[in-house]
Amino acid sequence: MRPSLLTDLTAKVRAAFVAEGLDPAFGRVQISDRPELGQFQSNGALAAAKAAKMNPLSLASQIQTRLETDEWFSNVSITGPGFINIKLMDWVLAQALAASDAILAPAAATRGKVVVDFGGPNVAKAMHVGHLRSSIIGDALQRHLKFAGFDTKSDVHLGDWGKPMGMLITEVKLRRPELPYFDPAFTGPYPVEPPVTMEDLETLYPIAAAASKADPVRDEEARTATAELQQGRAGYRALWRHFIDVSIAGIKREFASLGVYFDLWKGEADVDPLIGPMLTDLKARGIAELDDGALIVRVGEPSDKKEMPPLMLVKRDGGVLYETTDVATIIDRVKSLDPDLVLYVVDQRQHEHFEKVFRGAIKAGYAGKAVLEHVGFGTMNGADGKPFKTRAGGVLKLYDLIEMAKAEAEKRLVEAGIGADYPPEERATVARQVGLAAIKFADLSNYRLTNYIFDLERFTKFEGKTGPYLQYAAVRVKSLLRKAMEEQARPGAIAITAAEERDLALAILRFPDALEETIKVRAPNVMCDYAYTLAQRFSSFYAAHHIMSESDTALRASRLALAALTLRALETALELLGIEVPERM
Ligand code: ARG
Repeated sequence: MRPSLLTDLTAKVRAAFVAEGLDPAFGRVQISDRPELGQFQSNGALAAAKAAKMNPLSLASQIQTRLETDEWFSNVSITGPGFINIKLMDWVLAQALAASDAILAPAAATRGKVVVDFGGPNVAKAMHVGHLRSSIIGDALQRHLKFAGFDTKSDVHLGDWGKPMGMLITEVKLRRPELPYFDPAFTGPYPVEPPVTMEDLETLYPIAAAASKADPVRDEEARTATAELQQGRAGYRALWRHFIDVSIAGIKREFASLGVYFDLWKGEADVDPLIGPMLTDLKARGIAELDDGALIVRVGEPSDKKEMPPLMLVKRDGGVLYETTDVATIIDRVKSLDPDLVLYVVDQRQHEHFEKVFRGAIKAGYAGKAVLEHVGFGTMNGADGKPFKTRAGGVLKLYDLIEMAKAEAEKRLVEAGIGADYPPEERATVARQVGLAAIKFADLSNYRLTNYIFDLERFTKFEGKTGPYLQYAAVRVKSLLRKAMEEQARPGAIAITAAEERDLALAILRFPDALEETIKVRAPNVMCDYAYTLAQRFSSFYAAHHIMSESDTALRASRLALAALTLRALETALELLGIEVPERM
């Protein structure tokens, strides 16, 4: 495991509890809520005393006495009914910082295999802000997991197999019935050139969807086309293949502009060959049953507070559903990737869907050793508190959102007088980096299940808890270090003497805890808080102390080393959040 000051500290406090004949679990240590009393605190004496029927204050003081013999601690005090406050010797911080290479380095993959299912765009539809959250959170989680030593595989899990495909086929058929895809007598080969562009698909899909909704005849046609596609009708498959290829090209561009990458570009349709055998197996083993013509698996449990509807695998018309492909995808992933954990980073509104799918897969024994987990998130809302819509009332396309963010960032840069003298290419790069940082940080800094309000003006500010503020902070340290290099001032051994240095050191050293906590709660807002505190503490340190103008060279070298470590920690945190730091700004 990555070394952590907090872990070492916890070991010491645990040992003190054990020496008193108590459970080590009581020795948990946390960052102090009241920094004026201590850097760390342990509240375990209260619960331990209760369990052992002791007086909490006297137990706390016994622990205190034991801790006081340890040379690590400069002060151990007790407040209230038995809270233990701890301060460390400055040399302990300096020593921990000297070993920070191990703290800030990526780990080798030894902690098991995790599949991260995120993004989830749908064929023929433009990616919208709903996919944005999934992509940003999923990407941040995959980066954290990888860095912490998990072997990750991300899968975009393209939505390419449901009724929308049938709707599109019928829409194209209506407009261009002469195309060979619709001629059952045609024996191929089908044209290589796609009959539609991404733009065509984006216009056709909403029209087709509206028609299906308004007209039962069209809806029936779409349903039939979907079933025929799924059953393998050659012309439909060929046409559908074009939809996929055209869409993937567009979707890849969008993800690239967001700086998000996937290991696997699989889709719902990829598991189609597994569905037949899966259904046969489920029927044979009596796990699935026929219910009014549909094939279902009952997944309700007596302990359910709310009734859980059954998992539906085949509709009465023979079509398979989103649920079916998700169960089959579990079979596929378990077989081909053998994961220990599968995370589904998808809108919380799909929670019941995943609950049904997971229960069904486990009931059928398909999950193997894999833990299946839905990592849900809330919505990005407009000022009205409802899921964000464009002024025209439509869903905002991801592409347009990114363009808006870039434009807003550009405006901010001009306001701040940054980059007026940069070459145009660099200006564009910085605007892109700042715009994306604004969106990503605003999204990630909220706990994922919390809804938040989209406010580009606030997100792009250089002050406050924003992505651009953190980029600016990092760039400031970079330029300080660059200047030091030019003046041949080298970083040296770190000595902690001032309060701001102490606070900064403590902030840096929290990195391993922030990383593990982010992974544990599957929520990058923890790392956002880490980065923000770090930047703020650096700012206080920098305001209070000379660095380049410091005449004591050992002190200057120590402060430069502290600055260099801050930069490394900040850049690492931002990289884990998927945020780039410009060279200058
Ligand atoms: N395509 C889906 C949607 O747009 C999201 C897919 C999420 N992943 C999954 N395995 N179901 O809602």
